[in-house]
Amino acid sequence: MKTLIRNIGTLVTPQGKEALRGEHQGDVRVIHDAWLLAEDGIITKIGEGACPCEAEQIIDAQGKLVTPGLVDSHSHLIFGGWRNNEMEQKLKGVPYLEILASGGGIHSTVRATRSASSEELAQKGREALNEMLNYGTTTCEIKSGYGLNTETEIRQLEVIRQLNDTHPMDLVATFLGAHALPKEYACDREGYIDLLCQRMIPEVADRKLAEFCDVFCEEGVFTAEESRKILLTGQQYGLKSKIHADELYPIGGSQLAGQLGAVSAEHLIVCTDEGIDALSRGGVIACLLPATSHYLNAGYAPARKMVEKGVAVALATDYNPGTCPCLNLQLVMTLGCLKYKLTPEEVLTAVTLNAAAAINRADVIGSLEEGKQADLVIWNAEELSYVCYRLGSNLVTTVIKKGQIVKGGPDEKAC
Ligand code: NIG
Ligand code: FE
Repeated sequence: MKTLIRNIGTLVTPQGKEALRGEHQGDVRVIHDAWLLAEDGIITKIGEGACPCEAEQIIDAQGKLVTPGLVDSHSHLIFGGWRNNEMEQKLKGVPYLEILASGGGIHSTVRATRSASSEELAQKGREALNEMLNYGTTTCEIKSGYGLNTETEIRQLEVIRQLNDTHPMDLVATFLGAHALPKEYACDREGYIDLLCQRMIPEVADRKLAEFCDVFCEEGVFTAEESRKILLTGQQYGLKSKIHADELYPIGGSQLAGQLGAVSAEHLIVCTDEGIDALSRGGVIACLLPATSHYLNAGYAPARKMVEKGVAVALATDYNPGTCPCLNLQLVMTLGCLKYKLTPEEVLTAVTLNAAAAINRADVIGSLEEGKQADLVIWNAEELSYVCYRLGSNLVTTVIKKGQIVKGGPDEKAC
């Protein structure tokens, strides 16, 4: 089926099949008075001016801004329960790691996730995905990590697979069994790491339930050496590496990411200059999560410095019940400008092409170009800077996934 999107006021997109870094982070193509033709979900032509083509489906962009669909490259979207009960402790200033050490935090979500049925997890996940789609996100990475035993880790990944098969968004799964040391292994760290390496990773890989393996490398969670062992085992089984690094303390996670050739390192709030150099040398994408900094009342990752040192920067939500109960990537874009001092163009690349590269999809999504998937957003905006400026609004009017309208229509007001 042929779909034509006509009357595009301004089309803005990064280009290429690889992450853009350094001075190229903000290189975007801008076409005024544009049109885009897709066939069977794939972009076949982009042009400007008079629109020559006919199509079975014609979508009028009404002179508005069009960008690629947004890619959320870091989320923990499948979980039971919520953690609003932690608000009081949070307001009293109890540190995140102290709540975790006392059996709350991730452990309380683990209890709720273990006791939820797969149907309940799927229903809650579907609702979150619908909300994300409404904000313009067309592809999302989702981590396990609230099971911390074989049964529930696998169940989380099965739910992600089921949602990927049934929801319009594309989902990419990451195994994060090393999200915390489960309570029942409190006195047996090695035992849990053996379980991860000898049982869980082989099963996840064998059943192709995930593409990535991730570790929460953090003071009081997993050390850099333990993280190395887990990520290397993942690599032996074909799982590419990601790492939660330098979120609260810089214990060597970025350096490890560089050494292991990780696809991305995430958070990086307290990343040191040595850490940035390691990411740059290793070609590791820095996946930064400014809404988490905001929610934790923490500092912000040195994004500007990373760009200047040639690290490709992606931005994501980190949607999870503890440190970021926010799945609005538009808000993250605004924070990317205000808190990281990235330009709107650099931010757009960070939530499209670089985010796609962070989940190994830059060959199919992340930019509007011939041969890529027709995933795009029509905005109630005329300029990209306006999208980054309107803190907290939802400016998406229409979301098109694989050439099909999945949210709104040209005449509908943003909701
Ligand atoms: O990315 N830092 C580790 N994991 C999540 C938080 C998980 C939780 O608190 O439930 C994060 O911030
Ligand atoms: Fe996270």
